[in-house]
Amino acid sequence: MNAQEEEKPAPVLELDRVSKSFGGVRAAQEVSFSVASGHIHALIGPNGAGKTTLFNLITGIYPADDGSVLFEGRDVGRLEVYERVAAGIARTFQNVELFTGMSVLENVMVGLHVRTRCGFFGALAKWPWVRREEEQARGTALDWLKFVGLEKMAESQAGDLPFGWQRLVEIARALASRPRLLLLDEPAAGLNARETRDLGVLLRQIRTRGVTLLLVEHDMSLTMEISDRIVVLDQGRKIAEGTPREIQADEKVLAAYLGQGE
Ligand SMILES: Nc1ncnc2c1ncn2[C@@H]1O[C@H](COP(=O)(O)OP(=O)(O)O)[C@@H](O)[C@H]1O
Ligand SMILES: [Mg+2]
Repeated sequence: MNAQEEEKPAPVLELDRVSKSFGGVRAAQEVSFSVASGHIHALIGPNGAGKTTLFNLITGIYPADDGSVLFEGRDVGRLEVYERVAAGIARTFQNVELFTGMSVLENVMVGLHVRTRCGFFGALAKWPWVRREEEQARGTALDWLKFVGLEKMAESQAGDLPFGWQRLVEIARALASRPRLLLLDEPAAGLNARETRDLGVLLRQIRTRGVTLLLVEHDMSLTMEISDRIVVLDQGRKIAEGTPREIQADEKVLAAYLGQGE
């Protein structure tokens, strides 16, 4: 292997000509790109471009009509959502999806179940070793809450938290499943300027822990600042890919956004 090859990290995620239609709407049309290990990779584009659809295809909410999704070289395109989580893919949702009636800590513990021996049904049975595991799980969940700066809120009801904090709980829950790839759907939406800056710092810290990130984001200053690479979608198609600097200078990208009136 020569020096140049060594420097190029292997892809964690590879999409090859992935397509998905909903009735007449072609939400993804032969989209191909790969995400290098250790990168922060962004997916941008006007509303309705197909960004969330791609996330759903990668995480297994529904299968692609065509094309393949490879995670660490393995075809995961037919796996169920929980199987992909177990394989190492986690996500957060465009509209935060927490169990609002459960505590903040319990929400993060949900993310841990995929990594514990007892699983969900074992947790109901309460055998002694299950109880030990439960205590460990509480400790680990608390560590993840510390990581996002919310350990003081552990016993609060998740639905009572301000929106920005709920987003952080969702990130902690995703991290608790120990992903190697984390997908974040508009993590800065609804955050104020300061929270957005803090989010940028947090995302970099997550990357430092060896997690590759793929994010959909409308906040362009955040996206341009933290992304190693950007893919641009418009009407289900990839119209550009490159570094933030390349994307900012790309006329096709400008046209796509102007066409939307943004
Ligand atoms: N489950 C679905 N059923 C029908 N149409 C859908 C569904 N999901 C997405 N679409 C359509 O696919 C297109 C892309 O949507 P989406 O992926 O949510 O875009 P984005 O996240 O980029 O705003 C839109 O036209 C949307 O209405
Ligand atoms: Mg979306």
